[in-house]
Amino acid sequence: FGLMAYDPAFTNTASCRSAITYLDGENGVLEYRGYPIEQLAEHSTYLEVAYLLIHGELPTQAQFDEFEHHITVHTFVHENVKEFVGGFRHDAHPMGMLLGSVGALSTFYPDANEIHDPENRMIQTIRLIAKMPTLAAFAYRHVMGMPYVYPDNDLKYPGNFLSMMYKMTELKYEPDPRLERALDILFILHADHEQNCSTNAVRAVGSSQVDPYSAVAAGVGALYGPLHGGANEAVLRMLKRIGSKDNIKDFMQGVKDGNERLMGFGHRVYKNFDPRATIIRKATEDVFEVTGVNPLLQIANEVAKIALEDDYFVSRKLYPNVDFYSGLIYEALGLPMDMFPVMFAIPRTSGWIAQWLEMVQDKEQKIARPRQIYTGERTRDYVALDKRS
Ligand code: CMC
Repeated sequence: FGLMAYDPAFTNTASCRSAITYLDGENGVLEYRGYPIEQLAEHSTYLEVAYLLIHGELPTQAQFDEFEHHITVHTFVHENVKEFVGGFRHDAHPMGMLLGSVGALSTFYPDANEIHDPENRMIQTIRLIAKMPTLAAFAYRHVMGMPYVYPDNDLKYPGNFLSMMYKMTELKYEPDPRLERALDILFILHADHEQNCSTNAVRAVGSSQVDPYSAVAAGVGALYGPLHGGANEAVLRMLKRIGSKDNIKDFMQGVKDGNERLMGFGHRVYKNFDPRATIIRKATEDVFEVTGVNPLLQIANEVAKIALEDDYFVSRKLYPNVDFYSGLIYEALGLPMDMFPVMFAIPRTSGWIAQWLEMVQDKEQKIARPRQIYTGERTRDYVALDKRS
């Protein structure tokens, strides 16, 4: 096979050059366009971060106002999208609905395949970031059997999402500012994470020069999996299954025996700590001030404490990742578990689209087409069906 390198899962292969997100796994560093995640989580907003990821610089006030205006006026979806979402089974997984509906947007915007036109790319970028919360909220209301709530364009990005999810009366929905801010922080933390599985999927599919809705649908599909965005849902299912502190010891033994994984622990790149997990723990406290403490927090804290002192986890450099805590917040917000990965997909859209924009403008980028090491039979003669034993 000549000089071909064998690197299953690309653990040691750079698939692209990127100037968007810097990640130093040994030291727990995460920066978007050079700005530390801690500073962005404290001072910025999700929409400002989305602008930063896409354009490379923080916006001036005028640039931000224009960006926010464009996002706001594109929050509505075509009425037929509503019918499309309504066609799913009553118990459909909202991530499957999101995957289908975001992919379907390509049929509503056929001009999106003009990916070499910068102005066109920006229109689709705005549409994707603006409409993702609407699709997500429609999926949620469909599962709950509740009428859809249209976007409220007087509200900010996270507040409007809360309104589309939770509005119950004709009265205007007033989001609790603490919940709105906590949600904005969660969105900031999830916005991008360099070449993770779903971003790699967006880039790989996008490299065929398909429209960005189809590429992002591939990202949603990748994020659906329990080892990626589905991990927050899996964490909550795991904590519920453990049920009480008394069962933790047996559960941990099962993990160490290789029966299952401790969900929300470990990371391909972070081998010291996940800086997002540190920030999210603080946000957890803020949310619980409003919603009351999630009783599963005690079990989560105890599991983490034991794992952080246990040789199995320490020797493998397994630490809590962002998903270990995010599910606790989502549950406190009253979300069913299968909405959790959807809550990840909404903010990751800005990262996916920023990476897609970078990729389509990268002159070195060709269609993604890895090679393989063939392990099957070599040339042999066909045997007629009646001659086979
Ligand atoms: N629980 C128990 N053992 C684990 C875990 C875990 N969560 N994660 C890794 N290990 C063990 C694994 O069995 C292996 O042990 P050994 O060397 O004895 O065979 C060793 O640690 C290395 O594991 P790996 O599978 O080679 O590590 P990876 O870099 O391929 O996997 C991971 C990274 C995130 C997929 C993995 O740690 C995992 O499955 N974690 C649980 C799922 C999870 O929380 N995912 C969310 C990731 S963060 C959010 C995101 O970006 O999506």
